[in-house]
Amino acid sequence: MLWKQDRALLLEQEYQAKRHQIAQYFDKTAVKAWERLTSNDESLSFIRESVRAGREKMQQHILERIGDNLSGKSVLDAGCGTGVLAMDLIARNANVVAVDISPSLIKIARERFSRYEKLKNGGDVKFVWGDMLDPTFGDFDHIVFMDSTIHYKSTNAIGLINKLCSRARESIIFTFVPLTPLLAIKFTLGKFFPKGDRAPAIEPASERSLCDLISRNVHGWEISGMKRVSTYFYTSQAVELRRV
Ligand SMILES: C[S@@+](CC[C@H](N)C(=O)[O-])C[C@H]1O[C@@H](n2cnc3c(N)ncnc32)[C@H](O)[C@@H]1O
Repeated sequence: MLWKQDRALLLEQEYQAKRHQIAQYFDKTAVKAWERLTSNDESLSFIRESVRAGREKMQQHILERIGDNLSGKSVLDAGCGTGVLAMDLIARNANVVAVDISPSLIKIARERFSRYEKLKNGGDVKFVWGDMLDPTFGDFDHIVFMDSTIHYKSTNAIGLINKLCSRARESIIFTFVPLTPLLAIKFTLGKFFPKGDRAPAIEPASERSLCDLISRNVHGWEISGMKRVSTYFYTSQAVELRRV
């Protein structure tokens, strides 16, 4: 049996290795694809259009939960990508720190922001290249991370959630990929026919095991809402945590 310290070290090493792989992927291989997926004016294939539609629904749900007027509220958008969610938070007058480990995606987010005149009257924003876990960003009223932890195993994801909870005052909203029977078949087939693009694997989790991990590891917080969004090619589930 591993000692607690050895286990923590192992988890940290696993996290660092995965984070490196994700950073490489989103900063090099997937930049263009991600830029197109998150732009409003580029037409996409049927599959990507379905992913975009699902993501938009999920984004709307997160925004409804977090509220319409965020004046005076601080929000961390952890793993912000090209900043789609951050822009809507700024429009609701939140003071946003949007962080991502891909400098290329942060550059796109900054460029897009500079083009949105109407956001100039919204809340403050800082788009920063870095690790979402960096404590120097400070504490926030709300922390959101949409599809930002889907590549981490649930043992790592729960560590991320726990650390972010310690920096949130009101709520945390994150998404995970729920393990459904159909997805299980797709993933098993994917393992037999691996793709060569080095995309970090998505790590689906069963709702039950995730809830169990949360109740055992995240103290002082409770699950206050869940919502699954599905289109043909996008399935994601939002979890909202609030302080008890
Ligand atoms: C699937 S994308 C989602 C991006 C954005 N949240 C959205 O919904 O448009 C996952 C993002 O999380 C970022 N990410 C993953 N791990 C991170 C970490 N530890 N710190 C900061 N960003 C991270 C990746 O670079 C990537 O941009």
